Amino acid sequence: MLDATYVTDYIDSHLEQRQVNKIQHGFPSPRYWTEPTIAADEITEDRRKLRAAGQAPDVFLYIGVPYCIKTDPGKCGYCLFPVEEFKGNDALEDYYGYVEREAELHRDRLSGARLGSAYFGGGTSNLYRPAHYLKIMKLVNRLFPEIAEGADLTLEGIPQLFTRDKMQAIRDSGMNRISMGVQQVNERLNSLSGRKQTTRHVIQSLDWAREFGLAANVDVIFGWPQQTVETMLEDLKTLVSWDVYDITHYELNVGGPTDFALNRFHELPSTLSNLEMYRVGRDFLLDQGYEQHGAYSFRKPGDPTSKDFREGYRPQLHDVADAVGLGYAAISFFGAATLGAGRSWSYINQRNLSLYKAAIDEGRLPVERAFRHQPDDWVLATLFRHLLGMELDRVGLRTAMGVDVYEEFATVWDGLASRGLAEITPERITLVGDGPFYTPMVSTLLAEERYRALREQAVDQKKATLVMAGEGAGDGR
Ligand SMILES: C[S@@+](CC[C@H](N)C(=O)[O-])C[C@H]1O[C@@H](n2cnc3c(N)ncnc32)[C@H](O)[C@@H]1O
Ligand code: SF4
Repeated sequence: MLDATYVTDYIDSHLEQRQVNKIQHGFPSPRYWTEPTIAADEITEDRRKLRAAGQAPDVFLYIGVPYCIKTDPGKCGYCLFPVEEFKGNDALEDYYGYVEREAELHRDRLSGARLGSAYFGGGTSNLYRPAHYLKIMKLVNRLFPEIAEGADLTLEGIPQLFTRDKMQAIRDSGMNRISMGVQQVNERLNSLSGRKQTTRHVIQSLDWAREFGLAANVDVIFGWPQQTVETMLEDLKTLVSWDVYDITHYELNVGGPTDFALNRFHELPSTLSNLEMYRVGRDFLLDQGYEQHGAYSFRKPGDPTSKDFREGYRPQLHDVADAVGLGYAAISFFGAATLGAGRSWSYINQRNLSLYKAAIDEGRLPVERAFRHQPDDWVLATLFRHLLGMELDRVGLRTAMGVDVYEEFATVWDGLASRGLAEITPERITLVGDGPFYTPMVSTLLAEERYRALREQAVDQKKATLVMAGEGAGDGR
């Protein structure tokens, strides 16, 4: 267990440091995913085993698109996701053909599984022409003859690419929700990302979604260059006045060779200003009747178009997960504590489009690299997922994993509780106050010891490889 003084010193020295939002990737970071592929037959066997025991989770399906329209600066100035420049519909259709073939590689392996929710993201999934959305849902239905009632089937896109025809086709296909990356309602601030988005695009898309009975989520970002608490609040007020029931309010994740990191770093609000924006934004939305469902996620009850969707992964059973990612750069994870050592997996598909296609041409799953979880890793991966919802059910998680998540990480929880960031009861641990804002820091602390062990393991492996290479060279002499 981490030393209590280390934890409190860490917390105190990181309260004013920029949050690096690695939690969205789950545990561990893809840096540690060193297996060249997955043991697909083991996963299929374990899926069947879980089903036979009545423990199989509904599947979460993700389908990605690599393409985005060109912006200046590139990649909207801030985006850290792998994307490719959109060069026309032919390339998009050609890519989609590969996704269909990839889905076929999974079909038998998923036989008997029920779909719990699906997310069509990217990249930019509303680049598809209207006739295409039905094709996507046909693929989904082929893979999953059974879909859970009220399943969240969300298509993600950017406001300026929605049209009335597309929105109608999305609804007609059987999808039931859109998620729109608005980022800034304020046109001047939004233009820093090089997007040609206007307020009109946003209002119009929301109107069409409403006309066709589609639930609509809006993503906005705080911590943007030149943004102030006032401009942030103005955006939220506007969204509330437009009756947006479902708002995701992300903190800007700054990094990589992006324009915002390289050229606008000095224009970014400080971490404490971001904290202020988090507090003001949350208080405003709560005051307007929204409920906070996660660190970044707010919902107003009573949405006539919504079925209480919770974006993406919804923890149904406490530690069991089956998320299947199709397409370029898609991430999948599968596992359960009951499966034992080395039987749970995280993996990512090729982030190089040519390699993605080459794998499918050869009839192989297009996995770029994978991570085989040991039991400690699966505990952390599960905690990370639950932390996004701000609360850990101690009793449920103990029953599922045989681990009391308080006792396992007591110094971390006590350190957070002493700073007013968490509340601990025998039943649950809840992030409170500014706690959700610091979710990335909380996850770093929880994972610290395991990361130390993984780093040592990586060094040992490297040494062993060097020794073997040396011995090989010796043999040759
Ligand atoms: C990967 S984008 C894909 C959707 C669509 N292309 C778009 O830009 O809206 C999904 C969401 O991730 C969020 N996002 C992307 N890059 C981010 C960053 N660097 N920091 C915080 N949020 C980010 C944005 O809010 C965006 O709406
Ligand atoms: S923010 Fe969205 S539109 Fe912009 S590059 Fe990233 S995925 Fe593409």
